[in-house]
Amino acid sequence: MSRVRLAVAAGSLLLVASCGLPCLPFLDLSAVSLPYQDPTPGMLEEQAQEIAAAEHRLAVYTVVTGVLAILGLAALIYAWKHSRSRKGDHGVQLSKPRGSALPPAAADPADGDISTRVAHMAEPSYLAAVRESYDAVAEDYVKIAPARFAEDALARGMLAAFAELVQANGRRPVADLGCGPGHVTAHLDSLGVAGFGVDLSPKMVDIARRTYPTLRFDVGSMTALDLPDGHLGGIVAWWSVFHTPPEDLPVVFGEFHRTLAPGGLLLVGFHVGDEHLRPERSYGHPVSYDAYLLLPDDIEDLLRRAGMVVTARLTQEPSQSLKRPQACLMARKSEHS
Ligand SMILES: C[S@@+](CC[C@H](N)C(=O)[O-])C[C@H]1O[C@@H](n2cnc3c(N)ncnc32)[C@H](O)[C@@H]1O
Repeated sequence: MSRVRLAVAAGSLLLVASCGLPCLPFLDLSAVSLPYQDPTPGMLEEQAQEIAAAEHRLAVYTVVTGVLAILGLAALIYAWKHSRSRKGDHGVQLSKPRGSALPPAAADPADGDISTRVAHMAEPSYLAAVRESYDAVAEDYVKIAPARFAEDALARGMLAAFAELVQANGRRPVADLGCGPGHVTAHLDSLGVAGFGVDLSPKMVDIARRTYPTLRFDVGSMTALDLPDGHLGGIVAWWSVFHTPPEDLPVVFGEFHRTLAPGGLLLVGFHVGDEHLRPERSYGHPVSYDAYLLLPDDIEDLLRRAGMVVTARLTQEPSQSLKRPQACLMARKSEHS
């Protein structure tokens, strides 16, 4: 039993006991002899002694009741505070504590039963702005992004290669992290890759579930994935790491490395540059997230430090349809890490 549950049970018991205890003095007093018709001095003295003893017990019961009530309340307050602190800032589904184990069989997506169970813990503060912003833009984002994806033949070429390589590696599941409205997850599915999507924005996940009802999408964050170690055959992070402050990227790449099986593949796409952007509006809506343009060499370096080796790199120069250069890196987790 968890400490919180124990505290709730103990607190409730103590409070019930403290409510019941005051009944005892009444039983006590009812046992005191009734007034005598013709009392002798001895009888009166005996009765006085009975009453004094009952009063004494009443005082003891009152003190014990008070102590039990205080202890009960303290236990319930402890339970309340402890459960709140575990919910984190937003009480939104995020993650499991690192290193905790999920039952491997229930979590095997090859069985169509991918487990991204809800747990609560504090999250990095920048995620709130990303979540709120994508919740706000979701309905308009989905009108634009999938069409752009359909036009991006080169990037889809990288996804096709990724799909082939990941399948050659075995039947482990592939996670599309920061899946947005789910079109990339669906594209992978059409290439025969058993995958599922995870996104920070509940609105994006709603849209993805609505649009692709046969696929699995979960709310979650790539900063703390609710997946067992070594669970995934591949990870796609398709234009989804660029809201992560660069100093926090090692956390994200650490999660990628933790959840990938040895030899697992990563495909990460991003806008190229070294600027830090703070757009006020996006897709016709006010947004409050930050966006970081990234340099492929820096990402390669960070991936290497996290235990992954870059095996392929695509960079696309700006064009009529592409405002900024963009890059797509494929990396592999070492067989021995
Ligand atoms: C530019 S959209 C890309 C969506 C989709 N991959 C696509 O290609 O259209 C960025 C997405 O990443 C998600 N995202 C950003 N940070 C995330 C995080 N830490 N964990 C999960 N999703 C995140 C956002 O909610 C948003 O849906």
